[in-house]
Amino acid sequence: MSSDVPRPIVEYFEQSRVALALAAAEGDNHLVLVNTPFSRLTGFEPEDVVGRNCRLLQRDAANIEPRARLREFLARPTQPNVRTPIVNFRKDGTPFVNLLYMSRLRSNEGETRYIFASQFDVSRSQPELLAEYDEQLAATLGRLAPIAGDAGIVVEGTLLTIANSAAIVAQAKMMLAGLESTPDA
Ligand SMILES: Cc1cc2nc3c(=O)[nH]c(=O)nc-3n(C[C@H](O)[C@H](O)[C@H](O)COP(=O)(O)O)c2cc1C
Repeated sequence: MSSDVPRPIVEYFEQSRVALALAAAEGDNHLVLVNTPFSRLTGFEPEDVVGRNCRLLQRDAANIEPRARLREFLARPTQPNVRTPIVNFRKDGTPFVNLLYMSRLRSNEGETRYIFASQFDVSRSQPELLAEYDEQLAATLGRLAPIAGDAGIVVEGTLLTIANSAAIVAQAKMMLAGLESTPDA
């Protein structure tokens, strides 16, 4: 399924240390590529998720606000990126709060080719680890740009860095504690 993703982008995803995913720009944005850190984080192998929409990670969590934010981004081609915590579940059913970043990869002509995403478990992190992930994601986006550029693809949206990682981590831990104390979680 990742066969039409330019080879250098596939290879770049493979050697990245942060969780990355790429989805089709059209239709229901099915996944076309996920890397090894994504599988380590979510428990889902590429064969489990490629061809499907990544909302499967949400199971039956309501996620009203974060989903509205993500849908707004997807519906507005002029919005460069979005970043939101969202409740997700690993393949084994363990819940976590995913700090999801999304932006677009466009053709030189401006047409959206893929939706780019990165995931991070902010609910089991420490503020220093979140700050480190942020740096790695910024570096990943920076290094991806010339690689994608060679394949005629523009990486859009500079990273919205997290100003207060301690507050985000604390909030995510509270969200997770709330989930784990409910009988259905
Ligand atoms: C490339 C890509 C990666 C995504 N990764 C996740 C993810 O890891 N977790 C998640 O809950 N949603 C993820 N989403 C968002 C959902 O697929 C979906 O867009 C979101 O739930 C809003 O739409 P819905 O309300 O129709 O589900 C991703 C979307 C794209 C395009």
